This record gives sequence, C-alpha cells and structure tokens, in this order.
Amino acid sequence: MKKYTVKIVEPNLVFDDLVKYISINGVQRSIRPTFKTDDFVLYNGDILEVMISFPDNYVDMIFADPPYNLSNGGVTCHAGRMVSVNKGKWDKSKGFEEDLKFHEIWISECKRVLKPEGTIWISGTHHSIYQCGFILQKLNFHILNDIDWFKPNAAPNLACTTFAHSHETLLWARKDKKARNIFNWSNEERKISRG
Ligand SMILES: C[S@@+](CC[C@H](N)C(=O)[O-])C[C@H]1O[C@@H](n2cnc3c(N)ncnc32)[C@H](O)[C@@H]1O
Repeated sequence: MKKYTVKIVEPNLVFDDLVKYISINGVQRSIRPTFKTDDFVLYNGDILEVMISFPDNYVDMIFADPPYNLSNGGVTCHAGRMVSVNKGKWDKSKGFEEDLKFHEIWISECKRVLKPEGTIWISGTHHSIYQCGFILQKLNFHILNDIDWFKPNAAPNLACTTFAHSHETLLWARKDKKARNIFNWSNEERKISRG
C-alpha cells in the first residue's frame, strides 16, 4: 500500500480558493475537478490522492460509500437469473488485515479534514461495516447513530441457507465527542425516532 504524508495547508480557505489550491498543489493532474459549478465540485480520482490536498479541519460532512469487499466469486440473483456477484477488482477482498488497513487509512484522512463538529456517514454491508465501525471507534470518533437502510427489493438467497440480505447499515459519527454537530430536527425525524 502507498505511503501518504499529510500536508499542512492554509486553514479557512473559501470554497473556490480550495478548488484553486487543489489544482495548483495537487499531487497529480488527475485531481483537477472534472465538473464544477458555483457551489459544487466533482473530482474523479483516488480518494487519498484527492483528500491529501485538503486542509485540516475544513469539511462539514462526509458521505462515504466505500468498497464492501464482497466480490469474491459468489453469486446473486438479478432479474430472476443467477449472476456473478463480482463488481470489479476494486471490490475484491485483500484479506482481513489488508482490508482493515485500507479502511484505517481513508477514515484517518477523513478525520484530519473534518471540522471538530463535522460528521461522517459510512454505508456498507456486513462484509465491510464492522471494520469501518471498529476503525471509527479506534480513531475516537463519536458514533451518533447506526441506521438500517431497508431494501424491500433485496435479491433472494438462492441457496435458501440464510435470510435475504435486505438491508445496508449507515454509520453516522462525529469527529469530536465534545463538539456539537448540526441536526435539523423536524416532525418527520420525530416520527422516525419514536418508531
Ligand atoms: C460501493 S461502491 C459505491 C457506489 C456508489 N455509491 C454508486 O451508487 O455508484 C464503491 C465505489 O468506490 C470506488 N473506489 C474504490 N476504491 C477507490 C479509491 N481508492 N478512491 C476513490 N474511489 C474508489 C469504486 O470505483 C466504487 O465506485
């Protein structure tokens, strides 16, 4: 695995300056934005190579849907047919320790760029989510919620040996236990919280 060093950069950059900063100081040309509007920017590249150019304590919220490492030769059911579960090389497990190391590297970098009150959302299945949760705890994030995302159209278990995998888990955690995150509490959330 590549070694990444963290750069100390100017704090309090406004959004547009950040884009310029990354374009100038990026470790690769490929981290120039592929799409940009006044309040949105899209990078297409290795997450670590993009994030390494971000300042410390800069980001309000991260939503990450990292590889689940489930493409290991299994099968699933799609449109009534048995198909390979393999999604690509990026989703193949490299073994427990290597997968854990990968999650620790990218989540550590997320922690560096988040503001103290900033939060991270991570989605995953049982293949990945426990490792991500372990790393969040190891790095002293404060877990706010773990949320079941129910999928009513889950693929049936073809071998009939387990329940269908009908949910993903979303972990929501804050960088600093003592800081106060934003949560827009509304009637809808009140209904959900009461069950
Ligand atoms: C679980 S999928 C997320 C799919 C996405 N939510 C969607 O609906 O298209 C994980 C994604 O992470 C990307 N990925 C894997 N390793 C990466 C890396 N080092 N940097 C950036 N993206 C990566 C994969 O290409 C894949 O698209």
